[in-house]
Amino acid sequence: MTIIEDTAPVPAPGGSGDAPLLEVRDLHVEFHTREGVVKAVNGVNYNVHAGETLAVLGESGSGKSVTAQAIMGILDMPPARIPQGEILFRGQDMLKMSAEERRKIRGRKIAMIFQDALSSLNPVLSVGYQLGEMFRVHQGLSKKEAKAKAVELMDRVKIPAAAARVDDFPHQFSGGMRQRIMIAMALALEPDLIIADEPTTALDVTVQAQVMDLLAELQREYNMGLILITHDLGVVADVADKIAVMYAGRIVERAPVHELYKRPAHPYTRGLLDSIPRLDQKGQELYAIKGLPPNLLRIPSGCAFNPRCPKAQDVCRTDVPPLYEVTEPDGTPLAGRNSACHFWKETIHG
Ligand SMILES: Nc1ncnc2c1ncn2[C@@H]1O[C@H](COP(=O)(O)OP(=O)(O)OP(=O)(O)O)[C@@H](O)[C@H]1O
Ligand SMILES: [Mg+2]
Repeated sequence: MTIIEDTAPVPAPGGSGDAPLLEVRDLHVEFHTREGVVKAVNGVNYNVHAGETLAVLGESGSGKSVTAQAIMGILDMPPARIPQGEILFRGQDMLKMSAEERRKIRGRKIAMIFQDALSSLNPVLSVGYQLGEMFRVHQGLSKKEAKAKAVELMDRVKIPAAAARVDDFPHQFSGGMRQRIMIAMALALEPDLIIADEPTTALDVTVQAQVMDLLAELQREYNMGLILITHDLGVVADVADKIAVMYAGRIVERAPVHELYKRPAHPYTRGLLDSIPRLDQKGQELYAIKGLPPNLLRIPSGCAFNPRCPKAQDVCRTDVPPLYEVTEPDGTPLAGRNSACHFWKETIHG
């Protein structure tokens, strides 16, 4: 199997001329541990197109990062196993590629930004050296050329006085600046897709917004696909095009971002929205979804959310809901909207 080059025609499923850059289909990931099999990802379906931002949202432990690690091909196997699913990059299943073919995609076509910049950067090497390494290793540039590229990238991510700071070490930068360096590192080889896993969680709220804006700006400029993983609904409203909500390793709702906020079609999404602090409701007690996320060694039968759901009925305890297509009350389809709730109609229209 060969890797499809950028210029190769992309197969168009369903006759649509606009095939996704990345498509995850029915992905399952489990971890074999001494306590048993941890079912971390249980049938994830999502896609992202060039120039599009998909936000993946969900509480801690819902499988957001494990899905991303499966896409990047950085899961340790074992203990991880992928018993089922496809991860199509430009129409080709990366799970069927050789290690060598995967390596060609990682970093060059798909890059990842992690939450904790300090532990991702090498503390004893200058920032310029680490940025330059991308160009020395992947493009065979000389030391001098690579350093010039590093300064250019630091400029791109708006690090003040980049030329003067290129020889500084990671600890000499603030948290926000370090995260900018991580973004620069991801951008270095001009990938088609960036996966950012909680890129701003470790930062102050004001710095969070700046870093998020920068990421959105660069994504537009380079027409990249962006998968933005977060558990904070507040940070994605302005930058995401669409949202996939995860619960216990499954997608429970998909929707264009503003529609999701206006009319959630899953009680879990509604719960997440109701737990965002709002300025106009100061002093009121904040809503919290009752209970805890399930133990992934023993996921509840039926809908995994049923023990916490205020709307749960008998069927929810026995039947796993499929990802239904969501429509208006008269049956008009709502494009890009799905809900894995037996009672999505009542939830969205009720
Ligand atoms: N190596 C591993 N061995 C066993 N279980 C694991 C391993 N890695 C992840 N898991 C489990 O997989 C589940 C999903 O983890 P994941 O990191 O994807 O959650 P997340 O949605 O990214 O949460 P967070 O918001 O906290 O980052 C968790 O229950 C986690 O404990
Ligand atoms: Mg995570």
